Amino acid sequence: MIDFDPYSIEFANNPYPLYRQLRDEAPVFYHEGLDFYALSRYADVVAAHQDHDTFSSSSGPTIEKMEDQMLLITKDNPEHRFHKALVTKVFTRDRMNNMESFVRGLCVDLLEKAAANDEFDFVNDFAVELPLTVISELIGIPEEFRRDIHNFANITLLRGDVDPAKLMQAQAAAHDTYMELIRHRRAHPRDNDVITLMMNAELEDDQGVVRRLTDEEMAARFMELALAGHETVAKAIPNGATALQLFPDQRAKLLGDRALIPNAVEEILRYEPPSQLQGRITTRDVEVHGVMIPKGVKTMLLTGAATRDERRFENPDAFDVTRDNDVVAIYFGYGIHRCLGIHLARLEIRVGLEELLSRFPQYEVFPERGARKVLTNVRGFASLPCRAGAHA
Ligand code: HEM
Repeated sequence: MIDFDPYSIEFANNPYPLYRQLRDEAPVFYHEGLDFYALSRYADVVAAHQDHDTFSSSSGPTIEKMEDQMLLITKDNPEHRFHKALVTKVFTRDRMNNMESFVRGLCVDLLEKAAANDEFDFVNDFAVELPLTVISELIGIPEEFRRDIHNFANITLLRGDVDPAKLMQAQAAAHDTYMELIRHRRAHPRDNDVITLMMNAELEDDQGVVRRLTDEEMAARFMELALAGHETVAKAIPNGATALQLFPDQRAKLLGDRALIPNAVEEILRYEPPSQLQGRITTRDVEVHGVMIPKGVKTMLLTGAATRDERRFENPDAFDVTRDNDVVAIYFGYGIHRCLGIHLARLEIRVGLEELLSRFPQYEVFPERGARKVLTNVRGFASLPCRAGAHA
């Protein structure tokens, strides 16, 4: 009998032994109490991403069923195609790469300011502030709203003892804020700004009509970019700093050869995927490894288990910055829902690590004094004490 409690702090602290058990003993696991299936092997997770007609996203990315289908992550084709194509037009690799000097300058400011203290919180003083500022600059969220957006994201992602009334209140407040921002931006368009470009972009929708996005649709884009655009990166950078401390030989390799950092970014995401599971719902009965998953049941694609699958990765529990990249990069999803922020995320994590290692090569983090929370599908530190050590 496998004891899988996705809402326990033990699972948030270390899901990996359980993932191994699932892969080995129940690759198609059914959770009776919460009525969901879970796929944990790499090949099965990839196949389910590819079969998006059977494994629909319409009930949301988490274990709980979600009704709201405004977000990209909850849309199926043909509607998804129109919305994704429109944002992809604007979120190009070149546009993201042009952010590099801004990202680097911000990293330097944040790290130098934080390091002026004997000890600082690596998560809140650096890892949250970096992507939150970058995405806010990119989509034009005024400074006075930024912390509210982070607090809203935190409430949305929390599980366990979250108060539903508080959640609804936060969602309503966020919606009002985004609608206000959209109305303001329509009245005051900006040159070459991502949201203005998105507002003005025209594309043929699934009904064959060439149109622009409505205010409600724009508010949904705004909301998902603000949320998805910072919470995952804010988890990835502390995961990286911690892994490099736990594996000092790997840290020494990066200090010796900075050209390895882009590959290390991929390894950090494989070793500790910030987005641990992707929610789907079946649109038909489907058989996997001899188990029939009935139509209309939530099925979780356990990304965190897939990236540690020994059927795909040699010695998967070892952190190895020279490991051959997983070309699929399953930690960014795969197929039609592949992460929109992939270029930006890679850029932020890479530059964050480059500046950390160049300035404070002897930094120390204290995961035993850090804290995690029980979250929906994201995993990482909520706080992580850090000492910068001597300046290089
Ligand atoms: C390390 C950082 C990140 C990780 C690990 C990550 C991971 C993911 C994953 C696994 C998905 C697929 C979800 C699914 O299949 O249901 C996804 C989708 C998405 N991500 Fe990211 N993400 C990261 C950063 C970002 C950033 C910086 C942005 C925004 C700029 C972003 C925006 C999105 C959006 C809008 C989607 C929905 C795409 C769709 O449904 O078509 N992500 N991400």
